Amino acid sequence: MNSVDANELIVVKGLVKSFGSRRVLDDINLTVRRGEILVIMGGSGCGKSTLLRHLIGVLKPDAGEIWIDGEPIAKMGDEGLEKVRRKFGMLFQYSALFNSMTVGENVALPIREHSCVDEFIVSLMVKMKLELVGLTGFEHLKPSEISGGMRKRVGLARAIALDPTLLFCDEPTSGLDPVTTAVVDTLTLDLCRKLGMTAVVVSHDMASAFRIASKMIMLFEGKIIACGTPDEIRAMDNPVLKQFVHGEADGPIPLRLSKGDYLKHLIG
Ligand SMILES: Nc1ncnc2c1ncn2[C@@H]1O[C@H](COP(=O)(O)OP(=O)(O)OP(=O)(O)O)[C@@H](O)[C@H]1O
Ligand SMILES: [Mg+2]
Repeated sequence: MNSVDANELIVVKGLVKSFGSRRVLDDINLTVRRGEILVIMGGSGCGKSTLLRHLIGVLKPDAGEIWIDGEPIAKMGDEGLEKVRRKFGMLFQYSALFNSMTVGENVALPIREHSCVDEFIVSLMVKMKLELVGLTGFEHLKPSEISGGMRKRVGLARAIALDPTLLFCDEPTSGLDPVTTAVVDTLTLDLCRKLGMTAVVVSHDMASAFRIASKMIMLFEGKIIACGTPDEIRAMDNPVLKQFVHGEADGPIPLRLSKGDYLKHLIG
């Protein structure tokens, strides 16, 4: 680009991606401005993680372009991508912590990988990040010795270890109870404000989505069928969106498995 507007941190134009004969993303157009928290919603298998993987450059589109902070990444090679990725923090569905390492070593990983500061500074940075997520004093424990909610917070501490401009989270609260979900959400919001981060969060937890989003999109059959602030989304009269937001079984969102398939899936 030719970045038109320096406030547009992510710009996606005409993004198309198919796997085999299935077009998972079909002409996606999207802008995320600095300071926004974009929540990507949609049913299971609708392409949320696929979209996120394009934004971090792990997947290449069949067509379309993606600009991150003014850099076109869709056709970028590994070296260029590595540079752009230094601006990213990432938190994935199962926290992806290394079980053989302590909490502190997990948070230190990106610091050791991307900078050459000495060990004293590394341990200071780890302590600061753990303090930000409310886990002071837990650095010597292993992930298996802390709760699921705490593991997510460690994942968050690791994601923000290098003070990223952009935070990507795929289902950061999946598997957590509603109270722990609210704690992780509040923390994410707090961190974005304190560190001036912009975030893209995939979620199908509606309470969580409405709590953290400044902007929301809903994916359905490869397209963005709704885009707006939480208040705008609540007010929209789209049957797919309504079914999803209210978690109703009846509506335009199809049940993917037939009864026979489901039985086969259960009994193997
Ligand atoms: N690397 C791949 N190769 C082939 N098909 C893929 C690949 N990645 C994703 N898909 C398919 O693309 C579709 C969208 O997958 P994706 O993981 O993006 O869905 P999702 O919206 O994140 O679902 P969930 O909410 O269950 O995580 C699915 O049908 C999936 O099987
Ligand atoms: Mg997914």
